[in-house]
Amino acid sequence: MLRTHTCGELNISNISQEVKLSGWIQKSRDLGGMTFIDLRDRYGITQLVFNMETDSKLCDQARKLGREFVISVKGIVTERESKNKKLITGDIEIIVSDIEILNSSKTPPFTIEDNTDGGEEIRMKYRYLDLRRNPLKENLLLRNKVGFAVRSYLNDQDFMEVETPYLIKSTPEGARDFVVPSRMNPGTFYALPQSPQTFKQLLMISGYDRYYQMVKCFRDEDLRADRQPEFTQIDCEMAFVEQEDILSTFEGMTKQIFDKVKDIKLEDFPRMPYSDAMKYYGSDKPDIRFDMKFVELNDVAQNKGFNVFDSAELVVGICAPGSASYTRKQLDKLTDFVRKPQIGAKGLVYVKCNEDGSFKSSVDKFYSQDDLKAWADKMGAKAGDLMLVLSGDIDHTRSALSSLRLEMGERLGLRDRSVYAPLWVVDFPLLEWDADNSRWHAMHHPFTAPKPEDMHLLDSKPGEVRANAYDLVINGVEIGGGSIRIFDRDMQARMFELLGFSDEDAKEQFGFLMNAFEYGAPPHGGIALGFDRLVAMFGGTDSIRDYIAFPKNNSGQDVMISSPSTISNAQLEELNLEVTATED
Ligand code: AMO
Repeated sequence: MLRTHTCGELNISNISQEVKLSGWIQKSRDLGGMTFIDLRDRYGITQLVFNMETDSKLCDQARKLGREFVISVKGIVTERESKNKKLITGDIEIIVSDIEILNSSKTPPFTIEDNTDGGEEIRMKYRYLDLRRNPLKENLLLRNKVGFAVRSYLNDQDFMEVETPYLIKSTPEGARDFVVPSRMNPGTFYALPQSPQTFKQLLMISGYDRYYQMVKCFRDEDLRADRQPEFTQIDCEMAFVEQEDILSTFEGMTKQIFDKVKDIKLEDFPRMPYSDAMKYYGSDKPDIRFDMKFVELNDVAQNKGFNVFDSAELVVGICAPGSASYTRKQLDKLTDFVRKPQIGAKGLVYVKCNEDGSFKSSVDKFYSQDDLKAWADKMGAKAGDLMLVLSGDIDHTRSALSSLRLEMGERLGLRDRSVYAPLWVVDFPLLEWDADNSRWHAMHHPFTAPKPEDMHLLDSKPGEVRANAYDLVINGVEIGGGSIRIFDRDMQARMFELLGFSDEDAKEQFGFLMNAFEYGAPPHGGIALGFDRLVAMFGGTDSIRDYIAFPKNNSGQDVMISSPSTISNAQLEELNLEVTATED
């Protein structure tokens, strides 16, 4: 037996027992007469003691052991003289009588401690060593705990997990596909699924009315802190349901996970139509931990001679509470912030609401004190507040003000990570116009059903048709999204036609689904939650990478295994791909 206990287990109740422990050497301290070693495993750290006086040979052997050596020791559990309150095992130590070296270790390229000296790059290269550190270990344990809570809720609700294939067919909708050449079918390619969308719909037609899958999805898109090229969805579908059934099932799941994982009891989730989310927060994923809603000012700010506002489609502002004391320098910084290319505003107008009831603004030339009072009244601004106003075309202005709102929320400490504000955004538009390609795109995906009450607009005003589609947003992060689906062949064909598919293309790409609709498809709908994002939210960070055991970097590479990589000419030939690489 290599161990009788783990390194996180022993305490006062084990005193005088002979035990065997195995693990890695975290660090050792040689104090002349005594040598101490911290032995680490997944469960914790236990202090080992070697005494020069009682066994000098063993003590000498212990002194020679380096960091991260793997050892197994036998010894007696003893009460410590100076206890370490920070360790679970801090009341005891092991007086070692025997050591076995199971393996040696090179000196690791960075310290395996909570605060390491290793940079991101080197830690990614030696990810297996980074995973030995507590912060990453805690993240993966959290992931496991959340996953367990998800499965247990869904199983209790009669959902069955069904696996769907990873080698599927490429389709032009959505993000870019990762493709895999087929050796057996020269010149053809599989695609890795961006989601199991069509398969879960087929399972509904097969009669498995409650499906789920913790499933890898693959999307070849630009990477960000909350996006990885391969990520995990909690993918779900239900038959014989309406939107309300899905929202209540998955609100129930989210509440139960928060309860089990964080011991937080969430109130019922508010719902906000997409149109309100855009009007009041400029975003389809508003962070409602704080207010600072948009107030449109066209009627009070236009026609006063300020050309920038007069020529704008929208003049809109937010009121930052208690920020009238902002200095010139701070205001300049805010202006620079909104002018950043990724935000794209041309400038920023500010109005300070002074304590004496007067106003000081960057547009005093054009607006009287009474004019500015009218703005303040509309915005509900009080003495001491700062009004920040942007203008321009509706979409860009809302999006820029949304970024400014989040920035001000951050600066004012209103985005507390220990507060959770979930929200359902509902009634998304069915379609969005792609001006570059002069065509409609499905806002969610082409299988989403229009709202029955908007069906009459499908031909005349497709842009105004709303869908039975919904997103789960928590603290401004899109955690999940789904919809009620089309389950009628003709309706699906009409949808493809609207999206610019020819009859042939629709049949070629989605004929299997349309055919299946002709064999008794039940009404159905579903949702997929981003598992990595959910876990990161529980962990209190935005970066999902820290919650994935072996993630990719921002260039989509795994620097540990050097992927993606070139393949040999022989492999290329076998796959019927053009041989371009020259081999050494
Ligand atoms: P959607 O595309 O909205 O819906 O994806 C669902 C959720 O998956 C997460 N997500 C990601 N997480 C990490 N990295 C990524 N690159 C990434 N892309 C998406 C998000 C998102 O809300 N088939 C539909 C669901 C349905 O209609 O049932 C779908 O995939 O949290």
